[in-house]
Amino acid sequence: MKKIVVLGSINVDTILNIPRLPLPGETMAMGDQSTAGGGKGANQAIAAVRAGAETTFIAKVGQDHSADFMLDTFKKDGLKMKYITVDSEAGTGKAYILLDEDGQNSILIYGGANQTITVDDVENARDTIENADCLIAQFETPLDATLAAFQIAKQNDVVTILNPAPAKTDIPQKLLSLTDIIVPNETEAEAITGVKAVDKKSIINSAVKLNKLGVKCVIITVGSRGSLYYTDGKESFVDAYKVSTVDTTAAGDTFIGYLAAKLDSNLANTVEAMKFASKASSMAVQVKGAQNSIPYVDDVKI
Ligand code: RIB
Repeated sequence: MKKIVVLGSINVDTILNIPRLPLPGETMAMGDQSTAGGGKGANQAIAAVRAGAETTFIAKVGQDHSADFMLDTFKKDGLKMKYITVDSEAGTGKAYILLDEDGQNSILIYGGANQTITVDDVENARDTIENADCLIAQFETPLDATLAAFQIAKQNDVVTILNPAPAKTDIPQKLLSLTDIIVPNETEAEAITGVKAVDKKSIINSAVKLNKLGVKCVIITVGSRGSLYYTDGKESFVDAYKVSTVDTTAAGDTFIGYLAAKLDSNLANTVEAMKFASKASSMAVQVKGAQNSIPYVDDVKI
């Protein structure tokens, strides 16, 4: 069984259904509000475990009811939780998701305990990282811990996947040089490369720039248009499945967790893995919420 380690965030998501984003100074009535498990790290870990991989999650929660709610879901899904620790001061992470009628979202984050993950927390999980097939991280947890984890991974030929989200303009060169596959969406790619990805040509240009920054394999996800893979001067496009979108939250996270679970260690089957990930992601956008929308592998058929 594939062994995956995810270093990342845990958030309780409050989803606010609104007709459109409010204008500055405007008061607006909401349609509905609901709560669901989220956090980019947790979503990716759940996607990987539901895709059939043995998945260990390195994360932090607060000492509160939100933590109980999140840990309960992880337990039901069979995530390995030994390296999820508790910070006695900061609260469990929270996200406030403004979800419009077209299923598009804008997200506000309270980092809380996610921001207290340290290099020592990563060191405690050294053995597990060393023995993994793949390590995944994002930018909702501290950068120095991610760097430490990627260093351990690359010293042991573990495949590293970086999801540079939320978007960041100043990614250290060191981290890029330790990354095997970078998976941004078009906005995150633009933040790093400065190239606005509006059409096929500009998406490829953005990927070429990321490649020149030192990452061997680049996958740019472009929502309902699909995803681009670029490596060694060659590109492949994987079309998205045409579905009616209810909520795009965790679509990218589902893609990444499934991608990691399906990838061979020599990365030779990346395009095949992307097709499977794309199917899983198309299923996630048809259900409201983050973790409750992530499908189980038996239901994902391509
Ligand atoms: O990628 C979606 C996630 O981003 C949400 O679940 C929210 O918690 C934020 O972290």
